[in-house]
Parts: sequence; structure tokens; C-alpha cells
Amino acid sequence: MSGPVSRHGFRGQVTLDGPSGTGKSSVARALAVRLGASYLDTGAMYRAATVAVLDAGIEPTDAESVTRSVSAARIDIGTEAGTELVQVDGVDVATRIRGVEVTRSVSAVSAVPAVRRLLVDRQRALVADAEAIVVEGRDIGTVVLPEATLKVYLTAAPEIRAERRAGQLGVTDPAEIAAIAADLRRRDDYDSSRADSPLRPAPDAVVVDSSGLDREAVVDRVLELALTAVGEKA
Ligand code: DC
Repeated sequence: MSGPVSRHGFRGQVTLDGPSGTGKSSVARALAVRLGASYLDTGAMYRAATVAVLDAGIEPTDAESVTRSVSAARIDIGTEAGTELVQVDGVDVATRIRGVEVTRSVSAVSAVPAVRRLLVDRQRALVADAEAIVVEGRDIGTVVLPEATLKVYLTAAPEIRAERRAGQLGVTDPAEIAAIAADLRRRDDYDSSRADSPLRPAPDAVVVDSSGLDREAVVDRVLELALTAVGEKA
């Protein structure tokens, strides 16, 4: 895919925060394409940091060692909506970051304040390089870009989120779906209750509940909000 083509004249930043299983990533990518904007997946950065920690043989709960290994690692992340580039020290980890090993440890790594400071600085630098960008994560509207053009908090009922995640994984067994729901709840509780940058909507975020909506309907809604925010028509 070629670089972003600015459509609709959108300039600025759209932040998309919310828990996992809301369809946030696919909405964020599709929105970036529709706006002709860049796209930044900050969750992928925390996941890449977790790869560095695991490969160094460090316990994800050992905050000091975690910080040391994340500072030493070179984490490269692409900002094109059409391609996924995630590298740690020059090695492609785009597939590995979605695996169970990383998923199990990423909450602990992302709860370390020094890791957050490092990655937030990089996120702001990447955003500063883009005329128009959609940034997804947990704390983008609250901490990373509190002055963003539009802040959206995407949510969905827990059962729906578990079913969507099961669908992506091809799981149909009710017991396995229940296990997925329990894992989502565990991660939500962890992410929402951590002391540094907990998951929560910014005071001025627009909350969009995707429970009864398909992906296209959510993208249309957020696109309309983004264009309205810059005085354009959808
Ligand atoms: O969106 P995701 O599932 O790829 O995120 C992976 C983890 O990283 C998740 O446990 C929350 C954390 N995260 C975060 O703390 N802050 C962000 N801005 C993005 C993700």
C-alpha cells in the first residue's frame, strides 16, 4: 500500500481507547484508511516490549530488570494502516506478539511506570511526524495525547467481546468461550486498576458502545465524529 492520501481534508489525531475485544484494532485501521491517515497501534509496542523481556529471560514482574531490557531493545513500529511492521532488534515479531506467551505477560510489562514513560515518549514522537493519525490503546486520550482532535472510548458488553474474540480464534466450545471471557475480565481488571495510566475514558471522550453494531457501522460513526471535529462533512 502507498502512503496515506489525505481525504476529506482531515488533519489531527483521533484517539481510540477501550478494553480488548471491542473490535478497536479493526475499527482503528479501517478508520485510518477512510481518513487517509497514519495508524499507530500502541498495544503492539507494549507487546513488542514484552518480547524483549521474555527473550532476555526476565520475569515480567521484576520491574527494574524489565525496564532495563526494554530500554536496551530497539522497537520499531510502522504507522501505515495497510501493513503491520513490528520489529524487536531488527527481527519481525508481528505474528509472535499475538501469541499466548506474550498475551499472558503483557499486562505486567505495561504496568511498569518506567516502561510506560519510554514508550509514551516514542508514541508522541511518531504522532508528531504525522499530519493525520489514528492512535489506539488504553491511555491515549487520557495521558499520551490529551489535546487530540477527537477522543473516542470504544466499549462493548463483556459477553459480546468474549464471543467476538472466540470467533477470531475459531473457538466454539462454550467452556472455552467462558475461559476467554474470564481472561478478558482478568486483563480488564488489571488494566483498569493499575496505578499508572489506568484504562478509563478521558473526561471529554465520546463513548461508543459497539455491542449492537457491526464494524462498518462503528467506523461510519467515528468517521462522522472525526470530520465533525474538524468542521468537515462525512
Ligand atoms: O490492545 P492490546 O491487547 O494489543 O494491548 C496489549 C496490552 O498492552 C494490554 O494488556 C494493555 C496494554 N496497553 C497499555 O497498557 N497501554 C496502551 N496504550 C496500549 C496497550
